[in-house]
Amino acid sequence: MKKTLGVCYYPEHWPEEEWADNARRMVEAGLTWVRIGEFAWQRMEPTSGRLELEWLDRAIDVLGAAGLKVILGTPTATPPRWMLDKHPDMNIVTPDGVQRKFGSRRNYCFSHMGYRQECARITRILAERYGKNPHIAAWQTDNEYGCHDTTLSYSTHARDGFRDWLAQKYQSTEALNRAWGNVFWSLDYDTFDQIELPNLTVTDPSPAHVMAFRRYSSDQVVAFNRVQTEILRAHTDAPLIHNYMGRITEFDHYAVGEDLDIASWDSYPLGFLSDRLEGTPEHKARYLRQGDPDMQAFHHDLYRSVGRGRWWIMEQQPGPVNWAPYNPAPLPGMERLWAWEAFAHGAETVCFFRWRQPAFAQEQMHTALLRPDGVDAPALAEVLQVSKEISTIPNVGTATARVALFFDYTSAWAWDVQPQGADFDYFRLCMSHYRALRRAGLSVDILPADTQNLSQYKLVLAPGLMVIPPSLMAALTTFQGTALIGPRSNVKTDEMSIAVPLGPNLPNLDSKVVNTESIPPNSAIALQNGGTIRHWFEHLEGEAPIRWSTADGRPAIVSNGNLNYLAGWLDDETLFQLIAETCVDLGMEVTDLPDGLRIRDTQTHRFYVNYAPEDLEHEGLKIPAAGVVWKAF
Ligand code: GAL
Repeated sequence: MKKTLGVCYYPEHWPEEEWADNARRMVEAGLTWVRIGEFAWQRMEPTSGRLELEWLDRAIDVLGAAGLKVILGTPTATPPRWMLDKHPDMNIVTPDGVQRKFGSRRNYCFSHMGYRQECARITRILAERYGKNPHIAAWQTDNEYGCHDTTLSYSTHARDGFRDWLAQKYQSTEALNRAWGNVFWSLDYDTFDQIELPNLTVTDPSPAHVMAFRRYSSDQVVAFNRVQTEILRAHTDAPLIHNYMGRITEFDHYAVGEDLDIASWDSYPLGFLSDRLEGTPEHKARYLRQGDPDMQAFHHDLYRSVGRGRWWIMEQQPGPVNWAPYNPAPLPGMERLWAWEAFAHGAETVCFFRWRQPAFAQEQMHTALLRPDGVDAPALAEVLQVSKEISTIPNVGTATARVALFFDYTSAWAWDVQPQGADFDYFRLCMSHYRALRRAGLSVDILPADTQNLSQYKLVLAPGLMVIPPSLMAALTTFQGTALIGPRSNVKTDEMSIAVPLGPNLPNLDSKVVNTESIPPNSAIALQNGGTIRHWFEHLEGEAPIRWSTADGRPAIVSNGNLNYLAGWLDDETLFQLIAETCVDLGMEVTDLPDGLRIRDTQTHRFYVNYAPEDLEHEGLKIPAAGVVWKAF
């Protein structure tokens, strides 16, 4: 499939006389797709029930006539002000019990059924009107579920929905009390109506109670999205997409993805480095204008999995953004690098955010492909370059990876509910393992915990996997490659109790976690052969052969040759050494890439992306700073 480029556009922000010229310039820049509509509910329906869609008809016609394919967004992330008059209690409620106000976006509570019906109504109106429109080649549901901390809501609607969800799940309060361990602190319930949301308690609520609420809240996102996809499916054959985000773990993206055809995500590398990633000041300074070398790739691989192979970038950072603590400009070349990196990881399409920078409103300081005065912004030339390059290398089919990392949203919730150490964060743990794999030059697949077939992989990693489901345990039992499992894997039950018999309970590996400790940032546990354990260490007991020990002789990694359990969170260097050593044992090609260089294999090519601010050399190739180079196999 030929790679394509696109852009996000807001016709409602610009005079209608300019649309045709905008469309012409988009085509000239080599763009194929244009996404519109996702925030335009007020313009579509200025007062309740009074529709004004003629402008949208014309916008779609103008864009389509220019040769662009339109992605139409359902506008449900921005309910108009009149919606609040109809549904005064529709807004999201914070953990402090404060209702958030109208005045920006995403103010709705996922559990509010009245609002959900309004969303169904506007989706149906759009689906009936545009479902067969030849210019509409894809649909986007809502916009960035979970953005601005909007997955969890502590409203009365959420409370009532939660009680109902609990009643269906547990059937009786006796069963719930047993499952949650409510004998502790006299927390037993007699009826489901007594159960509150787990906020505003004096000290910790039961971890099982919080986990149940996290599961319930994730289910609401799935249900909210499904209302829209079911309506759209009845009226269109175009693919359905949602634009997910970076490092958002509050809902199960795999579950939402089951109702969609393509996963997409919004990639803002410089913003993420600044405000969404751990890292030393030196690392942040070095990558200030390029972004973290692994953050984008991690999400590319994650969303390829969420989209069951089909994924896009729906919004690509075009220059300085407005929302991070500091907003530098990318190095020349980064727009091209980010686009090609995405293609190398299997993206079908990369859309840039947005066509023209508005002189007004919240995002006036956020750059675009055009400046506020309509003149080309620096990113546009790189977009044009990529569009030309695409035709010279039309087929970048995704290669089969030999290495996989599990990423599981339930585990993210579990360790958020019960971190046990202030810096034990699941995303961070997975990211550190992913970095080590990438530094070794490996192409990685990211897998959900319900994966049943591991036969294509030689090496799989499962750090922090709260529960290994029976299907995965079965796959591991017959797995021919090497698995690195832990730390903190399969040591809990689904209800957030300690698993007894004590975990990790791996086949043919006699080892139990009998005690755990968390370690503050500037402390570490030394290993016998060099390196350290940071953040987290589990005390193991059992007869399993010890592969690595701590300096004071305790097991750090136990192994039966095929399955390994890591008792601690290895520092970055040591984790890399472990991966390298394991790959050598497996007879896999492994390297130690220079800081900032990353590679990704496709079916036909090896791509080298250089996030470093200096030129680098590797495998006889010179890769310029902020540059990307590819070589056919
Ligand atoms: C995204 C969002 C866009 C825009 C952009 C700015 O999170 O989907 O609507 O706000 O950020 O960077």
